[in-house]
Amino acid sequence: MERGTFGAERFGVGSLKGRHFIEPLNFSVEEMEGLFTLAGKIEENPAIYRDACKGRVLATLFFEPSTRTRLSFESAMLRLGGGCLGFADPGSSSASKGESLADTIRTVASYADAIVMRNPKEGAALLASRYSVVPVINAGDGGHHHPTQTLTDLLTILRLRGDVKNLRVGFCGDLKFGRTVHSLVKALSRYEGVSLYFISPGELTVPKYLKTGVLAKNNIPYTEIGGSLDTVIGDIDVLYMTRVQRERFFNEEDYIRLKDSYILTPEKMALAKKDMIVLHPLPRVNEIDMEVDSDPRAAYFKQTKYGMYMRMALLLSILGGNNA
Ligand code: CP
Repeated sequence: MERGTFGAERFGVGSLKGRHFIEPLNFSVEEMEGLFTLAGKIEENPAIYRDACKGRVLATLFFEPSTRTRLSFESAMLRLGGGCLGFADPGSSSASKGESLADTIRTVASYADAIVMRNPKEGAALLASRYSVVPVINAGDGGHHHPTQTLTDLLTILRLRGDVKNLRVGFCGDLKFGRTVHSLVKALSRYEGVSLYFISPGELTVPKYLKTGVLAKNNIPYTEIGGSLDTVIGDIDVLYMTRVQRERFFNEEDYIRLKDSYILTPEKMALAKKDMIVLHPLPRVNEIDMEVDSDPRAAYFKQTKYGMYMRMALLLSILGGNNA
């Protein structure tokens, strides 16, 4: 293999080497586009990349449950020839004995070349980055951000719709606590011609800081809908469904009252455009009827697969591949 043939430099993302990734705007649109290109190259010919991160170690520190994010990062690192260590349950780490996040991070940074962390506290990833001598990747900090899910979402939209510009994107469900929503809204605010629909119960609307601080400043039009999905589904190009998150509620009664506010069914899909796509960061609970899964517009399992290639591209760029 000729030197430099698969390194991040070739795709314009050499600038990401050694960088933290805490929220989506940490990377420019051009850097993200470079990552999408690199993810596509990896997907086309994964064998070329099998030793790209040989000898490197990734730590995955999950203080909250995860299936997709943790396992796709670990799969990505293994497929790049690197190794993984970490924990999926903070009860098995010294955090359960009262160790501070700062001390955990300083320790793990001496064992690993990059750290992927999920934590229930908003701002935890930023704090970790301040104590880490190796790159920290935010795998979700409470109801705040989930930037690698956003890379996955954008890659899925690009692959299935061809472009992100000029799309009408509808977000449905828990828009208050949904970190994947917050990160994707921020990222979409940089694309021309995008317009957004927020469909949620009144108690779970998108935070004000996103409406006034991000969308208004970038002249992104948005409409808030408290009523039925039926009234708007026919106008949407990308429908982003989300779960009402039990773990973010202070009382069970509110959760039970709100959890089934929106359920996507084949009847509702019949009202949608023929080329609309349905995304969901998953896990799903009840908000998409399983009968929708066989609809060709249901893209959420394709989305999970793109997530692994996306994370391979991200790790290769942040770590700098052996052949970079
Ligand atoms: N999308 C997502 O973050 O899924 P997990 O909670 O399973 O990681």
